[in-house]
Amino acid sequence: MEKDDLIRILNEDFMRELEATLIYARNSFIMKQCESSRVTEAIAVDEMRHMWWLADLITKRGGTPTMEHKELDFGGDDLRQMLEKQISLETDGIEKYKKQIEIVGDTEVAGVMKHILDEEKRHRKEFRIRLQEI
Ligand SMILES: [Fe+2]
Ligand SMILES: [Fe+2]
Repeated sequence: MEKDDLIRILNEDFMRELEATLIYARNSFIMKQCESSRVTEAIAVDEMRHMWWLADLITKRGGTPTMEHKELDFGGDDLRQMLEKQISLETDGIEKYKKQIEIVGDTEVAGVMKHILDEEKRHRKEFRIRLQEI
């Protein structure tokens, strides 16, 4: 894959991680259920860590991390709506990373993406458990 295309894909991922960080941080403030709020807060921190890992890959390849994001969709103000939104964000990330790992052609990038992918799967599982408990 050309370097510019790789940087573009990494920046798309970076933006999704930024959005997840902001959405989970906000939702953790709103959630009244302590356990769900704490899990969401901890996972927001994981997403911010993913931003750092991707920013490192982007800058090493001469790119600049894009600190822009779409209008944020938090899912709603109800616990179920927030958890469903969070599960769908994780699913979106899982699908994207799975595809990208196959095509990036860069061992370091694929390695970081695999690590992130494993964490997104764990996040989805954590959110699904909280949703089942409602
Ligand atoms: Fe993430
Ligand atoms: Fe995640």
